[in-house]
Amino acid sequence: MSERVIPLVDQRSRSRAINLPTQVVPATGLLGDALGRPLRDLRISVTDRCNFRCSYCMPKEVFDKDYPYLPHSALLSFEEITRVARQFVAHGVQKIRLTGGEPLLRKHIEVLIGQLADLRTVEGQPLDITLTTNGSLLERKAQALKDAGLQRVTVSLDGLDDTVFRAMNDVDFPVQDVLRGIEAAQAAGLGPIKVNMVVKRGTNDHEILPMARHFKGTGVVLRFIEYMDVGATNGWRMDEVLPSAEVVAHIQRELPLVQLDAAAPGETAERWGYADGSGEIGVISSVTQAFCRDCNRARLSTEGKLYLCLFASEGHDLKPLVRGNTTDEQLASAIAGIWQGRSDRYSELRASLPPDAASDGKRRVEMSYIGG
Ligand code: GTP
Ligand code: 5AD
Ligand code: SF4
Ligand code: SF4
Repeated sequence: MSERVIPLVDQRSRSRAINLPTQVVPATGLLGDALGRPLRDLRISVTDRCNFRCSYCMPKEVFDKDYPYLPHSALLSFEEITRVARQFVAHGVQKIRLTGGEPLLRKHIEVLIGQLADLRTVEGQPLDITLTTNGSLLERKAQALKDAGLQRVTVSLDGLDDTVFRAMNDVDFPVQDVLRGIEAAQAAGLGPIKVNMVVKRGTNDHEILPMARHFKGTGVVLRFIEYMDVGATNGWRMDEVLPSAEVVAHIQRELPLVQLDAAAPGETAERWGYADGSGEIGVISSVTQAFCRDCNRARLSTEGKLYLCLFASEGHDLKPLVRGNTTDEQLASAIAGIWQGRSDRYSELRASLPPDAASDGKRRVEMSYIGG
């Protein structure tokens, strides 16, 4: 039996208070961080709850019935989220991803999508609005999400074999229901759909080829993700990481692949196309080939803390500004000041330093709280 881990300090309470800026940072969409990286992608976590217990994300032993999830009063309202998102957009954000936990557990999420869909980029274009889901509620909700203005979805799916899948989600959830969710999303026009498979060596690596065969030629882009040392509860070990180079080599033996150019700067996935033209796959190699150099992603937690890196141990608390009598200009300038000071590049450092040194020895925040 595994031991229950009781956090001595709840990382969510660690945050930096934000001083209101004395100078306005003009919102030109050209903001850069300390390493010259632009701000393009905002990931918004809308709930810290999930109905799955994937061991690499929300292990059952920690996220049990006594786990102190955030109370509803702590969550940003849809209006508050949209107001914050508007300031990010003014500074150059072009893509918004709704995440969780499981974002479809947040009641009336389509109302938030509708509000975000009304925002326009600095160039006057609609945003790319997308959502990452475990697919369990997708069959029921796909059409309403599309109607509200969602453009596409990414579905997490770690295997096709029902026994393997039920073990990985650890709540005995059947794979057929997720596959039906993917079909419903396709039928609703939420494509191109991406499917994310976290690969754990010895657990689901035998599902790589069946997954590739299943989605080849369907228009779904399957992406293989290296198991990461994110958070502080998943008991990560390097020997459970299957390097993407091995994933590609494994698929190549049966289904020939050619490497494709990146679709957008700062992308997480390296793209590979089937040589017969029947679609593409991607590999996300944050462990063996860090992609911090072009990282343009900011993360907003469910309760309004801004995190500058997936591996951060501390966020910047925007909620007092949002709930106080701060003007939009002050809020936007505060966000800009934080981004301008950003120098995070955890994955790059981890490659050269021991894990504790790379994260300063502090406990990292959970991915279910700040979102993927
Ligand atoms: P699209 O390709 O536009 O759909 O977005 P994306 O590639 O950003 O996709 P997604 O959010 O699905 O990210 C895929 C996975 O990559 C996540 O679930 C994480 O495991 C990982 N990931 C995403 N962003 C980061 C990041 O900033 N750093 C690291 N280390 N991993 C990330
Ligand atoms: N390693 C890699 N990816 C992870 N995710 C969650 N935890 C991890 C981890 N430890 C990602 C998966 C999932 C998304 C919600 O978060 O891609 O699909
Ligand atoms: Fe839930 Fe996604 Fe985390 Fe699995 S990876 S526990 S589905 S939030
Ligand atoms: Fe960005 Fe941090 Fe991920 Fe590097 S580790 S790509 S800086 S979120």
